[in-house]
Amino acid sequence: MNPMRFLHCSDVHITADYFSLPLRRLGWRRWLALAELSVGGRSKAYARAPETLATIASDAEQLGVDHFILSGDLTAYALAPEFQLARESLGALAEDPGRCTIIPGNHDVFTPGSHHSHRFERYFGHLLESDLPEHRREGAFPFVRRVGAEAAVVGLLSARVPPVPGIAQGYIGPAQLDGLAAVVKDPRLAGRALLVVVHHAPLTHQGRADRYFHGLKDAQALFRLLPGPRYAVLHGHIHQRYHHPATAERPHIFGAGSSTQAGREGYWLIEVKDGQVLGGQKHVPGSVPVPARAQA
Ligand SMILES: [Fe+2]
Ligand SMILES: [Fe+2]
Repeated sequence: MNPMRFLHCSDVHITADYFSLPLRRLGWRRWLALAELSVGGRSKAYARAPETLATIASDAEQLGVDHFILSGDLTAYALAPEFQLARESLGALAEDPGRCTIIPGNHDVFTPGSHHSHRFERYFGHLLESDLPEHRREGAFPFVRRVGAEAAVVGLLSARVPPVPGIAQGYIGPAQLDGLAAVVKDPRLAGRALLVVVHHAPLTHQGRADRYFHGLKDAQALFRLLPGPRYAVLHGHIHQRYHHPATAERPHIFGAGSSTQAGREGYWLIEVKDGQVLGGQKHVPGSVPVPARAQA
């Protein structure tokens, strides 16, 4: 049997035209962020993000992947039109929890208002369903999605409203880790690889802990629950694409980087066979290889 394939993308950062919006309605947190958008070049880097996300979704359809995963930071600063456009760009894929897993990133809860009004859930809440809801500990998290006969995807929440812009650390917390421990031990998932999706990076590209105000605080506790190649952690947040293969002590780690950032577009295709995560290949959106049978 061919390996199962999972498309993992992240940090698509659909960005509204902030300079055309009334300043008063944006709030002080987004005013501070405007410098990042203009001087930092961010709005230029994400000008084509909706089109690129639509291309990635279309690649998922053409490749016939078993599941599509987006590990957070759908928006620039959690505005409703950004969520709306992200949803539209994904098309039919975003309708179906059986084919699609999406979790929020720190940019999707950028302001207390966006968090309290459950703006992410308004557009993507239907994708937080769980096949094993008894393992939930914090709202919908962790949620579990069985995929085929050999894998399951688990969604965790690490994105927290920052006290001030610029603080972008995340944590899973003891409650969700307790739920994850129950998921790992659940006999109904025996023989399945577990792909655990979390926004913050447990390790940098260099294999170190990320800096304090940017990293995942409880990365080591996460690793202890997920030793070896049955497991993979799929994350975003650091805008670099990398893979650390599993060891006896920790899971595979896939960082999808920012899949729509101009000049650095891309995603992972991750393979699973016999209940183990084999590895992955990087792909550029729109460069779907022709299937072998069509080449003959
Ligand atoms: Fe990001
Ligand atoms: Fe992030």
